[in-house]
Amino acid sequence: MPPPVESPRVVNIADLRRLAERRLPRAVFDYIDGGADAEVTMRENCRIYDDVILRPRNAVAIPQCDLGVTVLGRRLELPFLLAPVGSSRMFYPRGEEAAARAAGAAGTAYILSTLSGCMLEDVRAASSGPVWYQLYLVGGREVASGAIERARLAGFSVLAVTIDTAVSGLRERDGRNGTKELLGPSLGARLRFLPQFLVKPRWLAGFLGDGGLMSFPNVVIPGQGPMAYADVAAALEQSTVSWSDLRWIREVWRGPIVIKGVLTGDDARRALDEGAEALVVSNHGGRQLDGVSATLRALPEVVSAVNGRAEVLLDGGIRRGSDIVKALCLGARAVLCGRAYAYGLGAGGEVGVARAIGILRADLIRTLKLLGCAAVADLDPSYVEAPPAWSCRPSQAV
Ligand SMILES: Cc1cc2nc3c(=O)[nH]c(=O)nc-3n(C[C@H](O)[C@H](O)[C@H](O)COP(=O)(O)O)c2cc1C
Repeated sequence: MPPPVESPRVVNIADLRRLAERRLPRAVFDYIDGGADAEVTMRENCRIYDDVILRPRNAVAIPQCDLGVTVLGRRLELPFLLAPVGSSRMFYPRGEEAAARAAGAAGTAYILSTLSGCMLEDVRAASSGPVWYQLYLVGGREVASGAIERARLAGFSVLAVTIDTAVSGLRERDGRNGTKELLGPSLGARLRFLPQFLVKPRWLAGFLGDGGLMSFPNVVIPGQGPMAYADVAAALEQSTVSWSDLRWIREVWRGPIVIKGVLTGDDARRALDEGAEALVVSNHGGRQLDGVSATLRALPEVVSAVNGRAEVLLDGGIRRGSDIVKALCLGARAVLCGRAYAYGLGAGGEVGVARAIGILRADLIRTLKLLGCAAVADLDPSYVEAPPAWSCRPSQAV
C-alpha cells in the first residue's frame, strides 16, 4: 500500500521530497536529491526563480484557464513534461511504467531515459499519452541503433539526445553512501554500506519483489544481453555524443530530434544547424558540470539565438507552478520536471507522481488567475520583471 500523499500531509513538492527521504534508503534518496561537486548549480537552479518578479493584471475575471501547449505539433494538456530520470525502477517497483502512466493520465508526455530499468515497449504500453525516448550512446552506435529502432517500432514520437554527459558528474553524496562499493565485486566492501537498506524494510520488500538490482533492458550489448547496472559509469565515459553523431542519429531515427543540455547561444545555433527541431536548456539538474549557469539565467540568451527557428524547452529547479510560469514568460514553450516527480515516485509510486503533477497543475491555475492571464499560451515577458542584465548577450554585458 503506497503511503497517503494527500493534503494536509503533502501540500507541496517539498513535502513529497520529505516523504521520499523517509521511504528510500539514503543511497537511493541522495542519488535523486544530490548534484555535482559542491552542488552550487543545483541550488542556483531553484533559487534563481526568486530573481524574477511577477507583474499581475488585477481585476481580470478568469473563470477557466487553458494550460495546454503544443510541443512539436502535439497538444499537451499541461505545459510541463516528465524529464528522463535514469534508474527510476530503483525508486519504486516498475518505476518508469508508473511515472509514464501518471503522465499519460494527466495528458502530458513522459521521457524515458536510456538508463531505465523497464523495457521501452512496456513503458510505451503503460502510457495513454505521448512518450519520448532519451538517448545516450552507451554501448556504442550499434547498441544505440538497436534501441532507436525499437523505440520507433514501439511508437515513441520524439528522440531527445542528451549532450551534457561526456563523463558522469562527480556526485559526492554517492561516494559517501558507498555506491561504488555496493556495485563492486567485494562482499566485504559492500557489507559496511548495507544497513541503510535494511532500515527501510518497505522499500526493500518492493525492491526484492521487483527483481532486485535492475539491469538496463534497453541497452542490449550484442552477445551479452542487457547492460549490467555496475557498468554504467564506464559505459558513459566511452560513449560521448558529438555533433558528428547527430547525422547518423538523424538517418536512423527520421522523426523529430530534441537536443537536451544547451546552455549557450553558440550551442543552440549549432544544434539547429545539425537539424534539431527543439532544444532543452538544461544543466542536467546540476548533476554534471558544477558552476555553470542556472538554466533560467541561460534561457534568454538561447531564446535570442534561436530566434523562433525551433522550440525552446527548459528544465532545472522547477518546484512550483509559478516557476513554470516564469520560464514560459521568458520564452520557454514548455518545461521538463525531473526531481519534482521523482520525489513523488520515491514517496508513493504512481500516486506520488500523480500528486506531484496535481500540485503543479493547481499552482499553475492559481498563478494564472492571480496574474490575470487566461492561458499559458498567452504568457509573455510583460508578465515578469527579470534583472536588466538578463537581456544582455554575454558579449554585450559589462
Ligand atoms: C535522479 C536523476 C536521474 C537523471 N537521469 C537522467 C538521464 O538518464 N538522462 C538525462 O538526459 N537526464 C537525466 N537527469 C536530468 C533530468 O532529465 C533533468 O534534466 C533534471 O532533473 C532537471 O532538473 P530538476 O531535477 O531540478 O527538475 C536525471 C536527473 C535526476 C534527478
